[in-house]
Amino acid sequence: MSELFTAAKAAFDRAYAPYSKFHVGAAIRAKSGRVYSGCNVENVAYPEGTCAEAGAIAAMVNGGDTEIAEILVIADSDQWITPCGGCRQKILEFSTPDTPVILARLNGETHETSIGKILPGGFDKSYLAEG
Ligand code: THU
Repeated sequence: MSELFTAAKAAFDRAYAPYSKFHVGAAIRAKSGRVYSGCNVENVAYPEGTCAEAGAIAAMVNGGDTEIAEILVIADSDQWITPCGGCRQKILEFSTPDTPVILARLNGETHETSIGKILPGGFDKSYLAEG
């Protein structure tokens, strides 16, 4: 198993998801080579819950990195887990369109896509530069 998979699986195991019972883990390899992970953290006030990707991104920024080399997301699902719309935008902030997004199953199977493929036409910093 890759270091990224192992980190995401450990986060998956620690997920706090008593309401949906749907655990998600995410792990980011930053351009620096450092690995950061996060899990979903739900709340009894449902909209206050946070996704695994958001947790991993927060850990990365707090660790001093702002460039994602690759991100792996894992869940216990027959379908390939896929980042929600809001998390796609959060990932894009620290990525280029070809940044790999690796979707993983608990058995170690993975499917690779990219942030540009799952968020085509994403809103990025170039729009603000026009203003
Ligand atoms: N979830 C994530 O953590 N990441 C995703 O990309 C999809 C959904 C979480 C949010 C919630 O805690 C649970 O999965 C069910 O939606």
